[in-house]
Amino acid sequence: MGTLVFIVAYFLIDLDARAYFIGIGEVSLYHLVLGLSMAASMGGIGFGAVHWAKTLMPDTEIVEERHPQASPEEDRDGAAAILRSGWQGSQLGRRPLILQSAGVAMGLFSIPLVVQVVGSLGPLPGEELYDTNWRQGLRLMIDPSGTPIKASDVTIGSVFHVMPEGYIGEVADENLTAEEEMKAKAEDQVILVRLDPSDVKSQKQLDWGIDGIVAYSKVCTHVGCPVALYEQQTHHLLCPCHQSTFDMTEDCKVIFGPAKRALPQLPITIDDEGYLVADDSFREPVGPSFWERG
Ligand code: FES
Repeated sequence: MGTLVFIVAYFLIDLDARAYFIGIGEVSLYHLVLGLSMAASMGGIGFGAVHWAKTLMPDTEIVEERHPQASPEEDRDGAAAILRSGWQGSQLGRRPLILQSAGVAMGLFSIPLVVQVVGSLGPLPGEELYDTNWRQGLRLMIDPSGTPIKASDVTIGSVFHVMPEGYIGEVADENLTAEEEMKAKAEDQVILVRLDPSDVKSQKQLDWGIDGIVAYSKVCTHVGCPVALYEQQTHHLLCPCHQSTFDMTEDCKVIFGPAKRALPQLPITIDDEGYLVADDSFREPVGPSFWERG
């Protein structure tokens, strides 16, 4: 019915005709009738589909047993007999030299393939996967301004994104190669938060921080997205990519999501001028798992 009205309206209603619609006011009669008739048609289709599913579709559970997967015994014996007779007909069993030379040829043939595949893997990463640019004594610089940060500037609940001194800001722009800059951006990002020490459950976490200020790698241990969302009330750090959640009050251990390991903590301290500095490099690799870490 709705469809019929739609078709009739499409051809017969004048485009300039107006109508009054409750709650909206004056509207085009043409569009009003088209809209209402289309809504009626689609509603009818939806109603029909629900009705069909509820009343006409069988509502009983039907189980179809699988037939046996294996071929019958006689078929398998027949196939084995064909193979045996083919092998005997080839006479290869009586000519070991042919077999040996075929084996050698196949072995030689595979060498270029293996060389090609191994050669295309690129250089081994060496120790690079274990190391970042963080070193003892490097100041924590705010990303992206590149200014150093004092412990007294970090109030409870505040969050800073930091990079190592020399790898952010003007100095970095002048001195770093594009490759070094990329490596730094990929591996050195750190999130700095000041927690109330009474909220922290891990002594190691307090020892590696300074008055509740703690620094953690921002590189997610799942597949490396930046973990940058800090929930101040719960002290949770969230990764936006696949929702891994890390508990900042307990060594940034994983409490939800696909990540399998805690975020590595960067040991920090303060220098003579009160600026926050790294007390060491990371003591474990940052970022996702790789083959030697499991
Ligand atoms: S990269 Fe962080 S949860 Fe997947």
